[in-house]
Amino acid sequence: MTFDSPARKPAPGPGKTFRVKSFGCQMNVYDGERMAEMLEAGGYAAAAEGADADLVVLNTCHIREKAAEKVYSDIGRLKREDGSRPTIAVAGCVAQAEGAEIARRAPSVDVVVGPQAYHRLPDLIARAERGEKAIDLDMPLDSKFGALPKRAGGQRPTAFLTVQEGCDKFCTYCVVPYTRGAETSRPFADLIAEARALVAGGVREITLLGQNVNAWDGEDERGRAIGLDGLIRELAKEDGLERIRYTTSHPNDMTDGLIAAHGEVDELMPFLHLPVQAGSDRILAAMNRSHSVESYLRVIERVRAVRPDIAISGDFIVGFPGESEADFEATLAIVRATQYAMAYSFKYSRRPGTPAATMDGQVEEAVMNDRLQRLQALLNEQQQAFNERTVGRTTRLLLERRGKHDGQLIGKSPWLQSVHVTAPGLAIGDMVEVRITSAGPNSLGAELLMEEVA
Ligand code: 5AD
Ligand code: SF4
Repeated sequence: MTFDSPARKPAPGPGKTFRVKSFGCQMNVYDGERMAEMLEAGGYAAAAEGADADLVVLNTCHIREKAAEKVYSDIGRLKREDGSRPTIAVAGCVAQAEGAEIARRAPSVDVVVGPQAYHRLPDLIARAERGEKAIDLDMPLDSKFGALPKRAGGQRPTAFLTVQEGCDKFCTYCVVPYTRGAETSRPFADLIAEARALVAGGVREITLLGQNVNAWDGEDERGRAIGLDGLIRELAKEDGLERIRYTTSHPNDMTDGLIAAHGEVDELMPFLHLPVQAGSDRILAAMNRSHSVESYLRVIERVRAVRPDIAISGDFIVGFPGESEADFEATLAIVRATQYAMAYSFKYSRRPGTPAATMDGQVEEAVMNDRLQRLQALLNEQQQAFNERTVGRTTRLLLERRGKHDGQLIGKSPWLQSVHVTAPGLAIGDMVEVRITSAGPNSLGAELLMEEVA
């Protein structure tokens, strides 16, 4: 689809600069990185921090209304003082959901590209250069991954690797099945190749990503059907890959093999993000979650049986249509029963086109605010308590970034906590042994015991 461009401006191209801004989930971060790599391969350079870019890609999130609306204010802010603006591409889930409407509402947008079509970004930008509005919302059967440049690792010791995309679960509040399409798993050989390229580039920890990552399936090199646990076991054999994580999982796809892997694979970190959303079976049924409170708690119990120290994380929605005070108290009860190390919680956001948007019993904003506050108070208490329980433990940190103070670095513990350590001579990418000495709600302190322990 094309529209006449209302305002011509200098077109970007090789030798020009770009910026990709990703919002929302980690898969968007991954997609944003792949887009950046592709633009670099096409001769663009990343714009320096704070400098104007010739091309800006807004990689958007549609999961809640606020996130989706943000894109329009972001577009407005791209106008420069002299009235000019960069070439603007809107990518991600808002692009998929709203399509041509974006270019109508925000005429300064040149390119609209969905999450399954971003491998065509250079071509779309070229069309924009010719003065077209270039819109591509295809969900092609041949995956974008094959058309992207090979990965080269990066400057960071950790990386995301998308192994699965899309969702067939159709929770009644959720736009993902519509914006990301049906569940598809990337082939085993491609994933091993991408992981090897990342490790060769210095990556020591890979987080496997998918909207339903534990629904991944494929065939290993001998043609045997394997699930995510099989993929994890194969990746664990890769020299230089020291840590493996995965997110986000659905309780119904926590297979026996995946649970067992948590007790058997040293490289698999003791962290499980397992959203439950609500603690009332009535609400879970209305959400079409297809699991119960009991089946969720049973999964947690089984994972803890093989890996007692595992950190459990979750997602919660308060104020789903029809949620009564008693239903909400059941959510507090499942939180108490689970004891989370961390969690994300949200007010229900009505998303047009989803079944829940037209359900009776939409909950008032004030009630949602009150419930969210109570839930978050409990979750924060649990997070602090979890962090305090790790004080005194000896553990390993993978150092990921510099802290505010001289000689301070911030690394991740196996339980995904941010831990500060100060010692001369440490570098990003080092794996060090530390003793945890203090715990706050969001970060911990540690003393160095041993440098570079890999
Ligand atoms: N309203 C509020 N939260 C939502 N999520 C998904 N859709 C909605 C919605 N319509 C939350 C769920 C999901 C997380 C990624 O976002 O908790 O697990
Ligand atoms: Fe959305 Fe439910 Fe699929 Fe998660 S499992 S992406 S919440 S539909």
